[in-house]
Amino acid sequence: MIKLAVLCSGRGTDLQSIIDAIQAGKLDAKISIVLTDKPGVKALERAEKSGIKNICVNRKNFEERADFERKLSEEIGEVDLIVLAGFMRILSPDFVRKYPGKIMNIHPSLLPAFPGAHAHRDTLAYGAKISGCTVHFVDEGTDTGPIILQAAVEVKDDDTEETLSARILEREHVIYPQAIQLFAEGRLKVEGRKVTILSK
Ligand code: GAR
Repeated sequence: MIKLAVLCSGRGTDLQSIIDAIQAGKLDAKISIVLTDKPGVKALERAEKSGIKNICVNRKNFEERADFERKLSEEIGEVDLIVLAGFMRILSPDFVRKYPGKIMNIHPSLLPAFPGAHAHRDTLAYGAKISGCTVHFVDEGTDTGPIILQAAVEVKDDDTEETLSARILEREHVIYPQAIQLFAEGRLKVEGRKVTILSK
């Protein structure tokens, strides 16, 4: 069983999908800690409710990003995988280099389209007809790491950021636990940008 640290910034529905998959026996992992960069967010409540250790490392209490990230690393401790689940801060190259191939992120678009903090807004503004979500390993860029799984959804003419994000979230909650399970089973082979899923 692999040990996870899950980093969140808000509502924590992606976190909840991971907790639920573990409880349902679909994901062979243990969340050793949930960390947030903001106080009082729902993700902390969700962790608490499931008896998972949870800590806020408030970014506002640190002048320098390096000090904030040092504290994050301290709290993360020894884990097999760091899971970014709606964590809205960009981690520095120094931080990422400490955990090679051991940080995963989910992003609400079909990367490389619409990276960054406003994927839904950017998707709608561009007039794209298909969007979705992407689980990828984190590299030193923003939303640029090797792609593990993607799922597509239709963009409807009358979509708002809320309706599109809700449709994408449903798929996020399926593919994120799946991607973590593939990692847990040692089935993700990474060669450069390319991730191959090994058969059982
Ligand atoms: C999710 O849609 C996730 O893909 C997105 O934030 C949301 C978090 O929702 N992440 C990013 O945009 C990262 N750039 P949640 O707090 O309910 O899990």
